[in-house]
Amino acid sequence: MGKDISIGIESTAHTFGVGIADSEGRLLANVKDSYTTESGGIVPAQAAEHHVKVCSQVVKDALKTAGINPQDIDIVAFSQSPGLGHTLRIGAMAARSLSALWKKPIIGVNHCIAHLEIGNMLTDCTDPVLLYVSGANTQVIAYEGGKYRIFGESLDGGIGNFLDSFARELGLGFPGGPKLYELSLKAKSFIELPYVVKGMDVSFGGILTNLKQKLASGKYSKADLAYSVQETVFAMMLEVSERAMAHCNKEELLLGGGVACNKRLQEMAKNMCGERGSRCCILSNEFNVDNGAMIAWLGLLEYNAGVRMKLEDTDIRPYERTDDVDVTWR
Ligand code: ATP
Ligand code: FE2
Repeated sequence: MGKDISIGIESTAHTFGVGIADSEGRLLANVKDSYTTESGGIVPAQAAEHHVKVCSQVVKDALKTAGINPQDIDIVAFSQSPGLGHTLRIGAMAARSLSALWKKPIIGVNHCIAHLEIGNMLTDCTDPVLLYVSGANTQVIAYEGGKYRIFGESLDGGIGNFLDSFARELGLGFPGGPKLYELSLKAKSFIELPYVVKGMDVSFGGILTNLKQKLASGKYSKADLAYSVQETVFAMMLEVSERAMAHCNKEELLLGGGVACNKRLQEMAKNMCGERGSRCCILSNEFNVDNGAMIAWLGLLEYNAGVRMKLEDTDIRPYERTDDVDVTWR
């Protein structure tokens, strides 16, 4: 059997991404165009409009980068869940059109699981706990009992949106994550903040209120606050991750999502794993943020496990949970 080639379309939020992968694990292209605004807030209808505008160019660029023609493609994969309805719909429409035009099978995949599977492919992780920390998503996910299960998550907003909101309060602009990190390097002392872990879940709303009060009081340096917020919320996430590792008997931690680009989170994760004698798997930034390559790769895994979808199965599923997905490819 020859190798199969998959094109993957990502459109759960800001990013319209197209990746091309083959079944030997080669990533032939990973192109994207992201919708941004000055404030960083996302207006779903505008993000969708952005995706409509760029989609055909991003597909063309991906084919060109990969050096292949449409007839070389064996399957068309797309992010079917979870995410913003407005933007998911554009990716799904693009995928259905390409599948019909090129006469290739179509497969819709779960975005959160794609983050995990690309991590397995690119690192020596095989069965990790994934700490998935992006703008909108904050989840600790692991494979157990035939499904990818969520062991802990945010009870309110996502960690990236929270950090970006605080960065905006500090006047750092968007995206705030990288600027908050730079500022944190100038800190002189740690400031105690609320530490909010409830069972296996976390929450950020109260911490943001507390930070705003501290900022308004004028008593604290911005650098100290930037440093302290990172220390606090990363410790919260790693506490939950560590308990998930202990509970599931897993010896690998994988980081994913845009916030996983943060060097301090990476360092704290490595320290936690080092103390447990576990392995910490870290991807390059290109594969932490939303990308089409991970969608192409999960599409291939599912296709090779025999998954087939009819056109009527390709409806978007904005609210799908990872444990709704039947895992047939492991
Ligand atoms: P989704 O939640 O649907 O996966 P998204 O568009 O919100 O998607 P990502 O691109 O994965 O998410 O992540 C965005 C977040 O990552 C933002 O909060 C941003 O500040 C943060 N981020 C991106 N790059 C860096 C970096 N180099 N250092 C620190 N934070 C970063
Ligand atoms: Fe993501």
